[in-house]
Amino acid sequence: MATVQMNVSPADLAHVPSGGEKIPGPAIMVIFGASGDLTKRKLLPALFHLEQSGLLPKNFAIVGVARRPLGNEFAEDMRAGILEFGSVDKNDPKLDEFIQKVSYYALQFDDGSGYAGLKDALDKLAAEKNIGPDRLFYLATAPEYFAPIIENLGASGMAKPETGKVGVVIEKPFGHDLDSARELNHQVNAVFPESQVFRIDHYLGKETVQNVLVFRFANGIFEPVWNRNYIDHVQITAAESIGIEGRGPFYEKAGALRDILQNHMMELLGFVTMEPPSSFDAESVRREKVKVWQSIPQIPIANAVRGQYGPGTVDGQQVIGYRQEDRVNPQSGTETYAAVKLEIENWRWAGVPFYLRAGKRLRKRATEITIQFKQPPLLIFNQMQNSNAPCPEIQPNIISIRIQPDDGIALRFGAKVPNTPGMSVCPVNMDFNYAQAFGQQRANGYERLLLDAMLGDQTLFSHRDGVEINWALYTPILQSWAATKPDNFPNYFAGSWGPDVADRMIERDGREWKNTLGKPE
Ligand code: BG6
Repeated sequence: MATVQMNVSPADLAHVPSGGEKIPGPAIMVIFGASGDLTKRKLLPALFHLEQSGLLPKNFAIVGVARRPLGNEFAEDMRAGILEFGSVDKNDPKLDEFIQKVSYYALQFDDGSGYAGLKDALDKLAAEKNIGPDRLFYLATAPEYFAPIIENLGASGMAKPETGKVGVVIEKPFGHDLDSARELNHQVNAVFPESQVFRIDHYLGKETVQNVLVFRFANGIFEPVWNRNYIDHVQITAAESIGIEGRGPFYEKAGALRDILQNHMMELLGFVTMEPPSSFDAESVRREKVKVWQSIPQIPIANAVRGQYGPGTVDGQQVIGYRQEDRVNPQSGTETYAAVKLEIENWRWAGVPFYLRAGKRLRKRATEITIQFKQPPLLIFNQMQNSNAPCPEIQPNIISIRIQPDDGIALRFGAKVPNTPGMSVCPVNMDFNYAQAFGQQRANGYERLLLDAMLGDQTLFSHRDGVEINWALYTPILQSWAATKPDNFPNYFAGSWGPDVADRMIERDGREWKNTLGKPE
């Protein structure tokens, strides 16, 4: 496959200043569940990146809250996390000053009597650091604590101060089916009005995910062909080569459909398929996403398949199967792979199939959206009749949006092969590569989301309606899967592209999964 390199990478674009960013007012960010991995690996490195870019307010404090009694070692652990996961130089002059802003408070999340003490501690800290009443509560705990924490924040008067802005950021999973999501929404909104709620989906913090909107709505040439008249089908893949990374108890209850498909992939689908919003404000963007999700009819159970990895080889290393992972039931029926075919019944998309798949321990890590276009109405260069043709068939045009790794966008089209008899056509790629064009980014996606939550901008957060619509779509599949334990698990090898049943699902339609992820074939 030849690649036409696009001339989009002037070196002087490498350090585009973010410019025009707003800086939030003085505030305390309170992270519940702060002793967990997320805080150290993602949140603190992201906050430090914001500090380095001058995007945090001068008067700012971070309070980690968890059950274990911890003292100063919490701040030191956070420093280690920033250095390790934030690619930060240990001599960075801002680091010591930043770590001074980090403190810790021990609390049993479900013990209401402890919250008055937390409130006092926050008020005292605010007075010392001249911060004022603004608070952002970040729930990074196990999901069973979301409701008690919210209730206790309400009961202790921290959710509605007399003055000041208060927000609550809620990590996924937001419920485990439609009923539980509805109940949680109810509990959340009983304390925090929707305008104060930030349901986080970290995929929306990824630059490449946001770039889907830019690609579609800041360029005039794609919109006219972005519909059923030109597009044959769309594939969205979230392939991971990692396994469950020691998260057995969590994953046993979640599975691939709840963990990735129902949230991250539906957000990607929303951005790919929504109508142009009237502006880039929270209400317009979220309304268009909800409209498109509402147009998805129930997925027939035959169009949903599942798999579980057995032992295999990934990146040259022997790896164990899911059932051998730590704290996983040796007869587990949890899926580590899920794929669905769905349709969108609106004027733009009627008749265009969308194939979504997500899996652990697949051949390689690649999150990608593949838009395959219809063939031209008449193929005048019939190379099938030419046995010497270098490429046997004329391939359809493809736009591949690579979310990660090797972020970028490629367009595949046919080109005349020079110096061959007749008109031989082979596919070539025009390839835009993010790192080449803009320099390697250190951001992990949480920077944008944390900043937006502090500023009160909900555009990149999920609305309660959207969460419930997506659960409504997938709950019947989850119920059907729960009722029939698969008898053929494990049904794919670690290091493969998933179970045969997923290939059969797409092959029924005369199509195949694009497994040359990274570049269109
Ligand atoms: C999380 C899932 O939401 O997303 C994990 O719980 C998954 O299982 C992760 O590994 C993938 O995120 P990313 O950003 O690495 O694609």
